[in-house]
Amino acid sequence: MSWTKVIATDELPTGERKVVKIGDRNILLLNHEGEVYAVAHRCPHMNIKMIKGKITEDGAIVCPIHRSAFDLKTGSVKEWTPFPPVVGKMMGMISQEKPLPVFPVRVEDNSIWIDVNS
Ligand code: FES
Repeated sequence: MSWTKVIATDELPTGERKVVKIGDRNILLLNHEGEVYAVAHRCPHMNIKMIKGKITEDGAIVCPIHRSAFDLKTGSVKEWTPFPPVVGKMMGMISQEKPLPVFPVRVEDNSIWIDVNS
C-alpha cells in the first residue's frame, strides 16, 4: 500500500468531482452522496474522459460516449457500449470488456488519501 494525500475534504463537497494526477495517472475523485470514490479518469473502452459521466441510482458511472456503465466501488462492467442503439452493441462485440480501474480511498485528518498501488 502506498497512500498519497491528494486534497482537503472540503475541496470535494457532496456532488463535486475533481481530477487529480498521481505520477502518470489521472484519477477522477467523486463525492457521491457523501461517499468519496477514486476511479480512472479515462474510459477503458476508447480512453474518453469520465468527468461528465452520469451516476446511476445503483451506483455506477456511465461513460458519456457509448454509455458503458461501471460500478463505482469495484469498477466492474455493468453494461458495455450500449449506445448508440445497434451500432453500440456491434462495437461491444468486437472490443473486449474491461473494468474501470478503481482505487482505495481513505478520509483522514480532513484530507482525502488514495492508494494507487494496491
Ligand atoms: S468510450 Fe466509453 S464506452 Fe466507448
